[in-house]
Amino acid sequence: MLFPERKKFGFMDDLIAIAGAGGFIGGHLVTDLHRRGFTRIRCADIKPLDQWYQPVDEADNRVMDLSHPDACREFLEGARFVSNFASDMGGMGFIEGHRAECMLSVLMNTHLLKAAVEHGVSRYFFASSACVYPAHRQDRNDSLPLKESEVYPAMPEDGYGWEKLFSERMCQHFAEDFGLETRIARFHNIYGPHGTWCGGREKAPAAICRKVIEARATGSTEIEIWGDGTQTRTFTFIDDCLKGIDFLMNGEHAGPVNVGSSELVSINQLVEIVEEIAGIQLRRRYKRDAPLGVRGRSSDNALIQELFGWEPGVALRDGMGETFSWIESQVRKSSLQPTGKSVGP
Ligand code: NAD
Ligand code: GDD
Repeated sequence: MLFPERKKFGFMDDLIAIAGAGGFIGGHLVTDLHRRGFTRIRCADIKPLDQWYQPVDEADNRVMDLSHPDACREFLEGARFVSNFASDMGGMGFIEGHRAECMLSVLMNTHLLKAAVEHGVSRYFFASSACVYPAHRQDRNDSLPLKESEVYPAMPEDGYGWEKLFSERMCQHFAEDFGLETRIARFHNIYGPHGTWCGGREKAPAAICRKVIEARATGSTEIEIWGDGTQTRTFTFIDDCLKGIDFLMNGEHAGPVNVGSSELVSINQLVEIVEEIAGIQLRRRYKRDAPLGVRGRSSDNALIQELFGWEPGVALRDGMGETFSWIESQVRKSSLQPTGKSVGP
């Protein structure tokens, strides 16, 4: 069970509404709140319920399109706490080729914010991203860790990053103008079980696990890696992400806060970790014209340390072990499908 000692996140019988609850982070949060004894959880996602990663039967689960104002109004009726994870997003393979779709996620956050004011919500959480940081601060493999204050002058990831930055500002202005208490996390590449691992939206940790598992299963001796493998990232395990959300929702800091590991690795090092877990070594075929994103990105954790005396601490090797086992079980399940095709959640 995840951090059962903390029972706050509001009072146990307050209605908590989780948007995007059928997805990776939303699904983990609902599962965790339910385990901790919260009894009134309302969930929404546009996906059919059988495609939610972790549906909790006891929650009030609704399939709805939150890009419409009426849906947001209906969803937030009676809610005291709101967490917005609803977004049309993915890893570099998705966001570089779907910029308009990524920007349309602004509709969900806008209408949820308006509905939150209308219904007198006490606290509103927005899931932002490290993609808000400017390109020039991430143009080297050894770029310095990103501090929250370094977001301006703005030149975020085109499409997805602009939407996140705009929505962050909208949260801040709703706080100033309408008195809605908002909280904002800038997540740095969150990974773990029960997330996207195939289909084109998966991020590097899940993609590398799947590729290594498939190579081992088929007897292949090589895998394809996007880029030259020297680009760097800090990957954050889902348990740390949940703790970060909990600290922010229970804390008094209204500005954006990095929720990211400080364990910097290159993509080649990430591949080595997965090879070690799988017990094999593979030749690497580098696809240099694949979607790459920034050269180097890492999280500066001075602010989260100052606020909460805490920062994400799960070792990459440990988190990847759990992630690998789960993806292995999904690959096995999908190979049992009559079509032999990969399946979703
Ligand atoms: P996810 O894709 O697993 O979950 C997002 C969910 O939103 C999906 O289930 C999707 O169906 C739902 N959704 C999309 N459009 C909708 C609509 N119109 N109405 C209702 N639901 C809709 O993504 P995730 O990894 O769980 O990310 C959650 C949030 O955190 C997103 O806002 C994302 O941008 C942000 N974030 C995630 C990461 C990461 O590494 N996972 C990093 C930075 C920021
Ligand atoms: N997805 C993916 N798949 N990436 C790969 C692969 C692969 O098979 N092989 C190598 N990579 C490389 C990518 O080219 C990129 O340079 C790096 O691994 C990381 O890719 P992603 O994990 O897809 O994304 P990201 O870290 O650049 O950005 C992600 O994190 C942000 C927050 O930190 C995205 O998911 C954003 O949506 C998110 O907000």
